[in-house]
Amino acid sequence: MLSQILFLFFLIGAIIFLIFKLKRALIRFYVIIQGPFFAPTSYKRIKQITQLAQLKPGMKIADLGSGDGRILIGLVKSCPKITAIGIELDPKYVKLAKENVEATGLNKRIRIKHASFWSMDLSNYDIITIYGIQRIMGKLEKKLKNEVKKSCKVVSVFFQFPTWEPKKQLGDIRLYRK
Ligand SMILES: C[S@@+](CC[C@H](N)C(=O)[O-])C[C@H]1O[C@@H](n2cnc3c(N)ncnc32)[C@H](O)[C@@H]1O
Repeated sequence: MLSQILFLFFLIGAIIFLIFKLKRALIRFYVIIQGPFFAPTSYKRIKQITQLAQLKPGMKIADLGSGDGRILIGLVKSCPKITAIGIELDPKYVKLAKENVEATGLNKRIRIKHASFWSMDLSNYDIITIYGIQRIMGKLEKKLKNEVKKSCKVVSVFFQFPTWEPKKQLGDIRLYRK
């Protein structure tokens, strides 16, 4: 009898463990379908983004797929009175970015939103950053050209839009404007 109860506990534990693992794998799979997987932008590139963006107080920034939040933290630190939102689909990186923002004390100026950037209205931002993957750049070019305001600066790390010509470039960071 005792061995049957122990076996039942073991079985339930194993099922819970598998469901948990499966849920994580499904989330990862969904993120890969929706866009790029996580790869952090180097601090050298973040410096180049800051130089290209020419931030001014009051500007609003959005990072599409904000990962651990490093672009947001780097940009917000470099200029007073700018605010930023990170849009991130993977809950693991939403949590990590929130912790990193909290640790820098910038939580009044940086918000991390758990969402897909495909479902976000991007018309309200002055700077939009993206470290994507080549297969999304065509669809993203159309979305950005439709939605962003004329003065918005779109900054892409490494990957280029198929038909949009960059206005400026530093290393493999490109700045685009409508
Ligand atoms: C290459 S990483 C860039 C992370 C960060 N922006 C940086 O440059 O350090 C891309 C991030 O986009 C996220 N992502 C992928 N598809 C997404 C989507 N549709 N909406 C929001 N985030 C997405 C991934 O989870 C990943 O964290």
